[in-house]
Amino acid sequence: MGDYRELYQASIKDPAGFWAQAADAVTWTRRPERVLDDTNPPFYRWFPDGELNTCVNALDRHVADGRAEQPALIYDSPVSGSARTFSYRELLDEVARFAGVLSGLGVSKGDRVVVYMPMIPEAVIAMLACARIGAVHSVVFGGFAAHELAARIDDARPVVIVSASCGIEPSRTVAYKPMLDAALAASVHPPAHCVIVQREQSPCELVAGRDVDWHEAMFTATPHDAVPVAATDPLYVLYTSGTTGKPKGVVRDNGGHAVALMWSMRHIYDMAPGEVFWAASDVGWVVGHSYIVYAPLLLGATTVLYEGKPVGTPDPGAFWRVIDEHRVKVLFTAPTAIRAIRKEDPDGAHLTRYDLSSLKHLFLAGERLDPDTYHWAVRKLGIPVVDHWWQTETGWAIAANPVGVETLAFKAGSPTVPMPGYDVHILTADGVPCGPGEEGAVCIRTPLPPGTLPTLWGDDARYEASYLCEHPGYYLTGDGGYLDEDGYLFVMGRIDDVINVAGHRFSTGAIEAVLAAHPSVAECAVIGVADEIKGQVPRGLVVLKANAAAGVSTGDLVAELIASVRNEIGAVASFKLVDIVPALPKTRSGKILRKAMRGIAHGKDEPLPSTIEDPSVLHALRPILAP
Ligand code: COA
Ligand code: AMP
Repeated sequence: MGDYRELYQASIKDPAGFWAQAADAVTWTRRPERVLDDTNPPFYRWFPDGELNTCVNALDRHVADGRAEQPALIYDSPVSGSARTFSYRELLDEVARFAGVLSGLGVSKGDRVVVYMPMIPEAVIAMLACARIGAVHSVVFGGFAAHELAARIDDARPVVIVSASCGIEPSRTVAYKPMLDAALAASVHPPAHCVIVQREQSPCELVAGRDVDWHEAMFTATPHDAVPVAATDPLYVLYTSGTTGKPKGVVRDNGGHAVALMWSMRHIYDMAPGEVFWAASDVGWVVGHSYIVYAPLLLGATTVLYEGKPVGTPDPGAFWRVIDEHRVKVLFTAPTAIRAIRKEDPDGAHLTRYDLSSLKHLFLAGERLDPDTYHWAVRKLGIPVVDHWWQTETGWAIAANPVGVETLAFKAGSPTVPMPGYDVHILTADGVPCGPGEEGAVCIRTPLPPGTLPTLWGDDARYEASYLCEHPGYYLTGDGGYLDEDGYLFVMGRIDDVINVAGHRFSTGAIEAVLAAHPSVAECAVIGVADEIKGQVPRGLVVLKANAAAGVSTGDLVAELIASVRNEIGAVASFKLVDIVPALPKTRSGKILRKAMRGIAHGKDEPLPSTIEDPSVLHALRPILAP
């Protein structure tokens, strides 16, 4: 056990010294001499002269170090009724062969590969195979529909797409291939080849000359060696929702990422090689990238890949069964999952059916952890429940209780304290530091620590404009919150137009763009409103064109709008609430007052903005919006 404050102060006073030491945990093909390149602010590069291969760090070195027969990946799939364990040797063999498949299809260092997959081992294998040959993967969450997939294809311009015939949701089989085909038809830069995993639950037709069957290709593939890359070379691009409809391609480098994730496994999650870690998320989200795939394997631990839900597959004891069966030491999930379990099993009856003695910590992130859910989990599990706060952009926790160093006192509603390298400040809109307890914009003084985004894919200008211009010298997280008198951080929610639905991040602007495209819609606004299980869900407020509903009932129109968001963005946006309203509140210059509407929907006594054009419009919406 160590001393958090000492460690934290060291990381802020001497970042280069701190991260140089952490870099010892990584196997480099060329050890970095320099730790931080700060010659071109606000762009920073960690370990600029280092060279490594992330896949070697995740697999080869553990096979060489005596972990060949240790489980690397446990695939547990209640929705398909299957399970399989891959040892480090087996996983390396699959990855090296799939790297050979990709190489045979023309993928080489620096090329992009889009991965659009359900939660099956092939998704992990494809990601690691990209890392092995220095290709850049871009995983698109399987719940996104064709339009969102096409936008990502066009930005990433992949050489190959890896996908599967279907995903399996508890209530239905989701055919992926029609969505992939539609996305390819809609995209300006479709790749020449797709590799498709045929699943027995719903195989698909392959397009001759374009599509390659995963299993056939693997049968004849030659294993590919690892290609060393610069620490600053991109490992992946992960698109996330910004405040506009256009997703942001968050870039992750190889070196800083490996160093930071390994540091986090020991110091934040208190994990050691050989132990079992389970992030119950999806490989399509950042939690899946960092803590299903990379971090556990970099450490030499065992990771669980779970294709199922917290409830309904088959019951609210599903998580407890997985923990018992695989002797999970740390579970990481979203508060939504705990709320869903609690709703179906408030007394925790299902907990008593299993042996949970292996479980030492429950980590939660992805959305605000409400104190009620926190207390329930602590009571029922009897172990420390650690709220931690981070974002796709950072790739690992900005704030947490570093239980691998020292377990600090917990405060319900707070993700505890900033992690090393994150110099967190709360600023007013004018950039003035807030005092203890005073709410403002949560900002981080640059440079951000290793593992965080160096830029946005192909768009340095957007990176600067989105995160660095508002308060020069600081990274703008987009979250509001405060630090209390003990230095504990409280994150209260987004202060921009991003919403969190069941721990998934969506741009209200992207949903608005779909609604606005409907021929009957004159204008619209989408805001996040509170939901008992999902934390937030989107709610659309729509003004119709004068002659819009002629011959169509309002009910039909609302159904059409809901269907169009489901078809274009995906069911996972959970867009089910639409109100047809006479007008939207605006400023005198014509800007829609989303913040004021958000405030009313969250029960806040929002003062009327001085710039409002017609206060009666906002007043008329109060009864509709009020919680
Ligand atoms: N592919 C296709 N469709 C998907 C999908 C995927 N990968 N993931 C979700 N969907 C669909 C669901 O089938 C559902 O469709 P429906 O409207 O026809 O029912 C819709 O998207 C919403 O899905 P989901 O958010 O999973 O909600 P749900 O109501 O089915 O389940 C919970 C509720 C709480 C069980 C679920 O939200 C959950 O497991 N949350 C945990 C969140 C989590 O782990 N987040 C990770 C961030 S760390
Ligand atoms: P994502 O990029 O999808 O991981 O979403 C990041 C956003 O989720 C953050 O900016 C926060 O708004 C929210 N978030 C994640 N973890 C937490 C947490 N522990 N507490 C409060 N909000 C969180």
